[in-house]
Amino acid sequence: MRALAGWALVAAVGVGCYLAEPAPQPEPGNESLGNPAGFPCDVGNVVSRRCLTCHNASSGRLLLTTPENFLAKRETVLARIHDAAQPMPPQGALPADELTVLETWLKAGAPQAACENKVTDAGMTVELDAGTPGEGLPCDVEALLASKCRTCHGARLSGNAPMPLVTRDQFLAPSSVAGLSQGALSVQRMKKVQAPMPPSGVLPSSDVAVLENWVNAGMPVGNCSAPDAGPSPFDVPPQCTSATYTGNTENQYMNPGLACVSCHAQKNAEEGKEELPEGIAGTAYPSAHEPDHCDGAKGAATVVITDAAGRVFRLPVNAKGNFYLYASRSGLSVPYRARVETANGVREMVTPQESGDCNACHTQNGTHGAPGRILLP
Ligand code: HEC
Ligand code: HEC
Ligand code: HEC
Ligand code: HEC
Repeated sequence: MRALAGWALVAAVGVGCYLAEPAPQPEPGNESLGNPAGFPCDVGNVVSRRCLTCHNASSGRLLLTTPENFLAKRETVLARIHDAAQPMPPQGALPADELTVLETWLKAGAPQAACENKVTDAGMTVELDAGTPGEGLPCDVEALLASKCRTCHGARLSGNAPMPLVTRDQFLAPSSVAGLSQGALSVQRMKKVQAPMPPSGVLPSSDVAVLENWVNAGMPVGNCSAPDAGPSPFDVPPQCTSATYTGNTENQYMNPGLACVSCHAQKNAEEGKEELPEGIAGTAYPSAHEPDHCDGAKGAATVVITDAAGRVFRLPVNAKGNFYLYASRSGLSVPYRARVETANGVREMVTPQESGDCNACHTQNGTHGAPGRILLP
């Protein structure tokens, strides 16, 4: 058990230096920023996440909501996304892969494309309609997959998982190991201590037995496609549910969705003490892929942290969806476990974490294996 120290924490998620300057404040907009119409999926994803918070209809700035807008300003956009002195977005140049996506599309003449029912993740475009969950599966198998595998192997892939595990057909399909179906490989991986599935650790043997018994029986057809069991909450397009945004207000309502702790840790290092909370901080959202600065879930939820010493901290979620805890005042020790509670139920993180910078992993699309935003039950 270790006490949480700011810099160790920043290093733990590999987030390096963040802005010393306060981030520019986006104007509050009234429209949802969902994946904009007319863009190819990968481009729409970048634009919605990186440009539309500032370049929307209510901002009074250059409008960038359609491919035509981009085409009309193509040379300027190309110049500004490469301009080290005056970068767009102003926080700093886009990550290389996103820059390539935008640049390639602009150079090709900003062609229109339809992106219905598709979202992109890590450059991979995935059809949302990957089958009805449970189709052809027995109910015990379906329940196991729903609770232990689909945050990553859902119809919308997340956390770099290579394939969906949504229907029986997907278990019959060949895997990356010659001669093994995905079903047979799933059983192997669930037992494989060095590289288990789920990656957070080998599940109890009763869970492994559920899948193993079914695979050993030849994966017989079951019937558990609950017609009213909706799709995974992570299979949704990006949107800002509140349709309101908050910038750098320098109080507890600030910068919803951004990585709070890495920025605070940097400020605190200048002061030599923990003036700004860097134990735990983040934002809870009503849907899974909400953009940075979008106001999160309003109140009525609690983030429950159990630290390495077994102490439980109950953090209220405020009017912008933010929650936080000071490390020095609370004596928080890591690794900790986290769950979100509302009157509707609980959503729990399986993996214990060392970094308290929730939004550093729970970004709009999720990084470091996280499936997206921290969701209310
Ligand atoms: C945090 C807010 C913010 C974000 C995010 C942002 N911009 Fe800007 N953008 C501005 C502001 C403010 C200006 C006007 C001042 C300036 O030119 O620097 C501007 C200006 C521009 C201009 C120059 C407009 C002109 O008429 O000369 C271009 C082009 C541009 N942005 C493209 C983009 C692109 C492309 C993205 C996303 C990859 C993006 N911006 C993201 C705030 C933002
Ligand atoms: C936190 C995300 C996550 C969860 C949860 C998860 N997986 Fe995975 N899975 C991955 C990633 C990432 C890979 C690819 C890297 C690897 O093979 O380790 C993968 C690979 C696999 C593979 C190998 C596929 C191939 O063709 O090589 C199988 C089989 C698999 N997972 C089954 C499962 C099963 C069954 C569960 C639930 C019991 C599960 N996974 C839970 C992320 C996850
Ligand atoms: C880009 C840097 C940055 C980000 C990102 C950021 N903050 Fe801050 N935070 C600050 C600064 C700067 C202050 C005010 C400094 C001062 O009062 O002197 C502040 C102040 C605060 C305070 C008030 C502390 C006090 O006692 O006055 C709280 C609470 C807070 N932030 C929570 C958050 C949460 C929650 C997030 C993430 C959702 C977040 N911050 C994201 C830089 C940041
Ligand atoms: C280093 C990356 C990382 C950090 C930091 C992190 N998480 Fe997670 N989180 C994950 C991953 C990976 C998953 C998916 C696998 C799992 O559940 O363990 C996840 C899953 C979750 C889930 C369950 C997802 C669902 O089904 O809704 C919740 C709730 C959650 N995290 C809350 C939090 C909270 C609250 C914090 C901050 C106190 C936090 N996380 C910090 C990586 C992270």
